Amino acid sequence: GDVAVLVPAAGMGVRLGPGAPKALRLLRGEPLLVHAVRRVAAAPSVGCIVVAAPADAVDDVAAMLRPLSSPDVRLLVVAGGASRQASVALALAAVPEEFGIILVHDAARALTPPELVETVAAAVRGGHGAVIPVLAVVDTIKQVDNSGIVVGTVDRSVLRAVQTPQGFSRTVLTSAHAAAVDDHTDDAGLAEKIGVPVHTVPGAEAAMKITRPFDLAVAELLF
Ligand code: CTP
Ligand code: MG
Repeated sequence: GDVAVLVPAAGMGVRLGPGAPKALRLLRGEPLLVHAVRRVAAAPSVGCIVVAAPADAVDDVAAMLRPLSSPDVRLLVVAGGASRQASVALALAAVPEEFGIILVHDAARALTPPELVETVAAAVRGGHGAVIPVLAVVDTIKQVDNSGIVVGTVDRSVLRAVQTPQGFSRTVLTSAHAAAVDDHTDDAGLAEKIGVPVHTVPGAEAAMKITRPFDLAVAELLF
């Protein structure tokens, strides 16, 4: 495959509660990161996966993921950084030169279907420099002030919830990170900052991010 996938997995998982770093927490007996990487590796476009692991777990993570590497899918593990953005930048620096399409995918989206990886990669291959999977927002959204009083109701029809993998041409992702001044929760936000149009494709409910204990319970049931 012509696609490299960066998997930031160095977060602590504070919102999930006490325990191991989130990517190493178990879902049906296996770490979330193993679930995520297995699904990414199953996408035919993918030729390389670079994981940003907690700094003290790089060797353990490399050993854990070794069975998922193959002649078709090279697997690299680097130490992550203090923010998601820093972890992505460190993984990006390790991508071999031959990969011109780069996806960024949260380890916490452990059940993301390989088909979504293909959809995003295909849109980048088709000429979009930045691509994100999105879902319609189902809840009514209100803006509130500091004391919790409603300021107004936001028009939901123009809003989208954003998932990963997010896909980029290598030049767009590299330029976006090089230009980054403040911290962003996603990479498309950095591409927006440098004026790159961001294309949307339909997301997948199974690509939900495991953030809180309720999400982990839902993921267990989805199996
Ligand atoms: N991430 C990372 N390096 C960081 C922080 C986050 O690689 N310094 C990764 C996480 O491991 C996760 C993804 O970015 O796969 C999305 O972040 P999030 O869901 O916020 O995970 P955590 O930061 O671990 O969780 P929390 O914010 O609750 O601590
Ligand atoms: Mg976080």
